[in-house]
Amino acid sequence: MASSAKTASSKAPAAKKAAPSAKGSNGSNPAVNIQPVLTQQNQAPAPTQRYGTVSQRLPIGLSEETRQNSVTGLNQLLADTITLRDMYKKHHWQVVGPTFYQLHLLYDKHYEEQSVLVDAIAERIQILGGVAVAMAHDVAELSSIPRVPRDREEAPVQVSRLLDAHQRLLKNCHDYADKADEDGDDGTNDLIVSQLIRTNEMQVWFVSEHVVDSPLIQAK
Ligand SMILES: [Fe+2]
Repeated sequence: MASSAKTASSKAPAAKKAAPSAKGSNGSNPAVNIQPVLTQQNQAPAPTQRYGTVSQRLPIGLSEETRQNSVTGLNQLLADTITLRDMYKKHHWQVVGPTFYQLHLLYDKHYEEQSVLVDAIAERIQILGGVAVAMAHDVAELSSIPRVPRDREEAPVQVSRLLDAHQRLLKNCHDYADKADEDGDDGTNDLIVSQLIRTNEMQVWFVSEHVVDSPLIQAK
């Protein structure tokens, strides 16, 4: 850690030199006592940690059980949010038809907003001492959103799939926000309510206005 202590100026007049009593026996200034913490590696994070476990390393006043509950819920929300984010980009690229321009821009806006949520959820998991799910294959296994085909689909089907995904995610958000509230994990509750629920509800509103009376086919 950097010290703010100033070294004695070589320009100071000789008459103003510090009195000998202000120096320690080894010549150091006792007012600035900086020593290395030789045991700090005992508190360092373990280089490896198994997915699904939580550490108590960060002193945030939450029990291991509470952290475990929150991390489990947040990893589910993270997998679903990554999936929804990527669904928006897929549809951003593949959309065609008379509403192309509106949807092309709207999908990308929502993709960016979901990316912000992904980072917020993942970092909350790390703060709680957990391990955030990250890679596509792990996300695919964990996500509660049904697999989307690789094919390009018509805009009404894209809209239908997005609204279904939002609804699944929002139901999980309400369940996990309640659980975090019960456990006293205010930070997780706030993240889910203030960021996830608010953002997803807003996106549902904008996407819902593109629902047509008679979809050409139903998403399954
Ligand atoms: Fe683009």
